[in-house]
Amino acid sequence: MKILVVYGTKYGSTAAVADDLAAKLRNRGAEVDVFDIKTGNGLEQSSYDHIVLGSSIFVGSWTKEMQDFIAQNNQELNRTPLSYFVCCGDMIFGRSDIEDCHQRYVIDAIHRMGLADPATSAVLGGFFDFSRYGLLVKAVLQARGLPRDMRQNGIDISKPYDFRDWAGVEKLAESIMKY
Ligand SMILES: Cc1cc2nc3c(=O)[nH]c(=O)nc-3n(C[C@H](O)[C@H](O)[C@H](O)COP(=O)(O)O)c2cc1C
Repeated sequence: MKILVVYGTKYGSTAAVADDLAAKLRNRGAEVDVFDIKTGNGLEQSSYDHIVLGSSIFVGSWTKEMQDFIAQNNQELNRTPLSYFVCCGDMIFGRSDIEDCHQRYVIDAIHRMGLADPATSAVLGGFFDFSRYGLLVKAVLQARGLPRDMRQNGIDISKPYDFRDWAGVEKLAESIMKY
């Protein structure tokens, strides 16, 4: 099976998830191409049996580059079985839950972008690193009460906080291969 994984990221944590997914698919015998949408997408070079689209979530949306790519290649994408994953932070500290994040950031988002229902899909956690954020980004996160919630949960916000779900990546790889 030949699989394309295309992802959008701002700070890089989704890239590691996409690479790990690709490695796990390759371990199961798939041939996999992986693209950060900022550098390419693979669609011009090859045809695929399955396409995985992933993005981190910023203020409720997939990255701008992924939204543009999907808008420009909608028909071609919808001709192939599609799976999706997102990296996001709303599920931590009981702010929301995985099902709600899945509904809003996968199902509602792909419908808004005109994409077909998933073969399979997952919400795979995320990463916060306040040392890398500028004033504006810090203000957005502050307004959402994130630093307060992190401190209340004993997390030192001067250090990176990694809550990516590597077991979930494994499960996603498994279900893509079963599809
Ligand atoms: C400015 C900003 C806004 C964010 N907005 C959301 C959001 O609306 N919902 C959510 O669940 N996570 C949100 N997040 C969390 C990110 O999706 C999470 O940090 C993700 O791991 C970032 O991925 P990246 O490193 O690949 O860019 C936000 C993060 C930042 C820095």
